[in-house]
Amino acid sequence: MSATLRALLPTRMFELLATDPNSSARRGRLTTPHGVIETPIFMPVGTQATVKAVHPEELRSLNAQIILGNTYHLWVRPGTEIIGAAGGLHKFMNWDRPILTDSGGFQVFSLAKLRKLKEEGCYFNNHVDGSPMFLGPEVAMEIQATLGSDIAMLFDECTPWPCKPEDARSSMELTLRWARRCRDWIDQHQPQTGGGAQLHFGIVQGSTFQDLRERCAREMVAMGFSGYAIGGLSVGEPEEDMMRIAEWTCPLLPQNQARYAMGLGTPPQMVELIARGIDMFDCVLPTRLARNGTAFTHEGTLNLRNNKFAKDFRPLAEDTHPLCQGFSRAYIRHLINTQEVLGLRLISLHNLHFYLSLAARARSAIEQGCFADFREEVIARYQTRPE
Ligand code: GUN
Repeated sequence: MSATLRALLPTRMFELLATDPNSSARRGRLTTPHGVIETPIFMPVGTQATVKAVHPEELRSLNAQIILGNTYHLWVRPGTEIIGAAGGLHKFMNWDRPILTDSGGFQVFSLAKLRKLKEEGCYFNNHVDGSPMFLGPEVAMEIQATLGSDIAMLFDECTPWPCKPEDARSSMELTLRWARRCRDWIDQHQPQTGGGAQLHFGIVQGSTFQDLRERCAREMVAMGFSGYAIGGLSVGEPEEDMMRIAEWTCPLLPQNQARYAMGLGTPPQMVELIARGIDMFDCVLPTRLARNGTAFTHEGTLNLRNNKFAKDFRPLAEDTHPLCQGFSRAYIRHLINTQEVLGLRLISLHNLHFYLSLAARARSAIEQGCFADFREEVIARYQTRPE
């Protein structure tokens, strides 16, 4: 497909419905093969073809519009042969709304053993049975095509932090060369666009260096993908750097395409990144923290294992998921302390409800022209306290 034709396509995929006059916040609508996603949006994480402890029907009741899956985990187990035979990831896991899959490199680096990074890709021994595997740009795109995700992420290298400028530069350049190979693979194997075609999002790297982030964004956009992500965030860098990276990158990304901040974040980070022009988020926090007894509220997190909740018969929060209504903090604390599955299920539902309603409130605030007040209120109320 010609670059000119490709440049015309994104307008049909992402519609910009409203913008905030006081910030770069946007209200948009992204069309994918399995349906429309209203943005800004939070995507629950379903690494192993399940959002841990949550039934797909419950995800629907939470108004989850899209969930995230992982190439690396699903490739290692159960493998693409089984998911392909099932008719793709949607059928395999009984979820008919959109799915975004991460491309695998990031997970290889956090989980696999004996990793060797080469120009062609990454050699490693998987974390399940130790067998040797290779993941590179073409393989990652092919696996995601077999999974049939609505949005496939390009294969990238997530630059660790801290990082010397010369190392950040060579890592970013590798991500660009891999993006070129992903582009070629897509042009050869999935030349069709629109309708039921898989979307592909490029990932901008470049660590905390403005020149590298800007160059990566420009070159990634020139290759022409359906949307763009900012990667290499929340890897230990100070929060001010995270915000600066979004401020450098977002203005260089096309207005009429979706923007995704990978692996983020806390509730205030989400709101501050929406204010800088980000549309999509995914984060393990609501489900991971739920499993150790931590619940999100507008005032910050509650560690329900704490003694002070032993006789606290109030609900987790006034606003919670319908299935959590009627249960007290004291009862949920008891479930967590006795490792009862219902405890982590209830907090998972509550936390996902919190994140998904925060995104829904951001959407209506942008629509109604009161995003500045919403932003101020969220930040003022939310206390980040040490547990
Ligand atoms: N998840 C969180 N950060 C990243 C990143 O930089 N790249 C990829 N592929 N996935 C991520």
